[in-house]
Amino acid sequence: MKISIIGAGNVGAAVAHLLALKSLANQIVLVDVKEGVAEGKALDILQCSPLENFATDVLGVTNNFEATNKSDIVVITSGMPRKPGMSRDDLIATNAGIVKSVTNNVVKYSPDAIIIVVANPLDVMTYCAHVTSQVSRNKVFGMAGVLDMARFRTFIAQELHCKASDVDALLIGGHGDTMVPLPRYTTVAGIPITELITAEKLETLVQRTVFGGGEIVKLMGTSAYYAPASSTVEMIDTIVKDSNRILSVCVKLEGEYGIDDCYLSVPVILGKEGIKKVLELQLSSDEMNLLQQSREKVKTVMNVFNSLK
Ligand code: 2OP
Repeated sequence: MKISIIGAGNVGAAVAHLLALKSLANQIVLVDVKEGVAEGKALDILQCSPLENFATDVLGVTNNFEATNKSDIVVITSGMPRKPGMSRDDLIATNAGIVKSVTNNVVKYSPDAIIIVVANPLDVMTYCAHVTSQVSRNKVFGMAGVLDMARFRTFIAQELHCKASDVDALLIGGHGDTMVPLPRYTTVAGIPITELITAEKLETLVQRTVFGGGEIVKLMGTSAYYAPASSTVEMIDTIVKDSNRILSVCVKLEGEYGIDDCYLSVPVILGKEGIKKVLELQLSSDEMNLLQQSREKVKTVMNVFNSLK
């Protein structure tokens, strides 16, 4: 299993570190545009191997996509992170060009790879990678639903003083202010969340989740990376082990939920071929309205991307 990570910034390096710790690949290749950064971080991670007992080879290269040749999975984290006061959508002009050129290089050397997009604005960068790669939607998708759900699950666990992994949540829609957490599908050890938390409290947790990325940008002056990396690795784990887990990932909808022109997070079955099935839920009319609002928002940014071409 060869996994390449494009972009050795905070998220890319954290993904590489976690993949090595979990021995999910024989070889990890970190690529960055900044001379020496990927090489340095790869060496640093490799030097954990005697201590953490992994045998993964970790290689860092500067802009040398040939080193990614025949990767099974490629993670695209390249691009600028947010600064305080910026929305993810403000990154479109800068990151679209970067993700497009990276994707061209990725498919040149690894035409069969599964591509996981992590760059922001996530839904539109997934669109960019998908149309650029011309690969089936089953093999090009974005990481956001898992992260947004992890935030929601964490906030619920904090409120209930319970273990976060016992909280099972579902969230769909765009990775932005219009994301759609679904309390109706949220349980704690099988107990519906509505039996454990008041509707008012739940709404505050939903709102904190929606602005969860921004909360961290405000605190740190840059985007989050530990939870984004863990979420990416959760997706890679189910692909590598062919576990068929149901995770919420950003994918081009082709008629599901009555939408066929937009990239949004929805639950899918994920395994070694990538997305094996996109699951379609019977949403209530309120939930469907929220999903439509999310679609409108993502479509607006997709149109900005189209006008850049
Ligand atoms: C976040 O929500 C980086 O978009 C990512 O933190």
